[in-house]
Amino acid sequence: MKIRKIIDKSIHEIEFLKIAQLEKKLINNISNLDILIFDRNIVKNTFIKKLLKKFPKRCFVIKGNEKIKNLENYSILIEKMIKLGVQRKTIIYSFGGGTLGDLSGFLSSTILRGIEHVMIPTSLLAMVDSSIGGKTGINSKFGKNLIGTFYLPKKVFICSDFLKSLPKREIACGYAEIIKYSLIHSKQLHKILNKGSKGDINKIIKLSINSKFKYISDFREKLKSKNSRAILNFGHTIGHAIENSNFYKGNLKHGEAISLGMILELKISSLLNYYPKRVDSLFEIFKKYNLPVNYSKYVNKKTIPSLIKKIAFDKKVIDEDVNIVLIGKNGGFIKKILIRDLKSILNQIK
Ligand SMILES: NC(=O)c1ccc[n+]([C@@H]2O[C@H](COP(=O)([O-])OP(=O)(O)OC[C@H]3O[C@@H](n4cnc5c(N)ncnc54)[C@H](O)[C@@H]3O)[C@@H](O)[C@H]2O)c1
Repeated sequence: MKIRKIIDKSIHEIEFLKIAQLEKKLINNISNLDILIFDRNIVKNTFIKKLLKKFPKRCFVIKGNEKIKNLENYSILIEKMIKLGVQRKTIIYSFGGGTLGDLSGFLSSTILRGIEHVMIPTSLLAMVDSSIGGKTGINSKFGKNLIGTFYLPKKVFICSDFLKSLPKREIACGYAEIIKYSLIHSKQLHKILNKGSKGDINKIIKLSINSKFKYISDFREKLKSKNSRAILNFGHTIGHAIENSNFYKGNLKHGEAISLGMILELKISSLLNYYPKRVDSLFEIFKKYNLPVNYSKYVNKKTIPSLIKKIAFDKKVIDEDVNIVLIGKNGGFIKKILIRDLKSILNQIK
């Protein structure tokens, strides 16, 4: 099964495959000029073992985590790759979660001014979100994803068989983004999640990708359009600030921070009377999928000033306003809020 979307006149193609089909497709097509990047946590997979054995000199094994997305690591890797030999027709194949995918995408888009990238996302979050839409990037010491490019992968292969080895906590992080789609737009996903169903994961992934596709016809965040890419930032304005503030403690994962960000942005939607029903009932969905809902440890009178400072650094801030995504009766929309008003709203949230 394939899903396609034209983005900025290029085709973004996502193909769903079983692991045996993926092996058949790739094993004889990868050449000795190509580069393979693997997450360390998938190297026990039989197919990956075969690739490692077949291309011992062209493989990089990296332990995926947020800390690999930095300039120093990027510089070390790109120099190693250039030393190894890279040509215009070299393809970078990356197998891993969102951190490895973002870094590999950035490497692919900058090495020799851009070579082809084939992505094989292996975490649920990467399957439903980070491998879709062509955003690549690494972190600056001032904040997440501040260095990067828009660069569509040549192909994305989704093989949900990889999820068998993914830890429970990482599965939950993937569901954070799936819940996001269900709240900003997809009634179908909302129904499935409400039932607490983990049934057909390929269907859930496909519905999630189709939801994301509604918001990504180009690479801009046209704030006025109701299908603006920026709506995908629901939960992320506050979520990133929480994530950045806890980055060095490493106790909070991306999906968990976004989950808390969504809870707070839902509370703001309710406080400003945009969301017509009681938001607390929605929190049950987060709990069903093992996501945190208790934000008081991260967002409280003591932490709010520093969170607001982080938000001000965030790339979504223009002058004194912050564009935040709220949820109304028809799904997600963008609301401009003065930074100082956001601070006082956060202080009112119980
Ligand atoms: N580019 C985008 O549009 C976009 C969108 C959303 C998120 N992101 C980025 O994605 C990153 C988060 O992605 P993530 O949650 O996948 O993080 P990750 O890459 O750190 O992966 C999470 C963990 O799962 C492990 N893992 C991955 N696949 C596995 C498998 N099949 N079996 C066992 N373990 C496996 C990894 O080793 C890691 O420990 C963040 O850096 C975020 O900024 C990017």
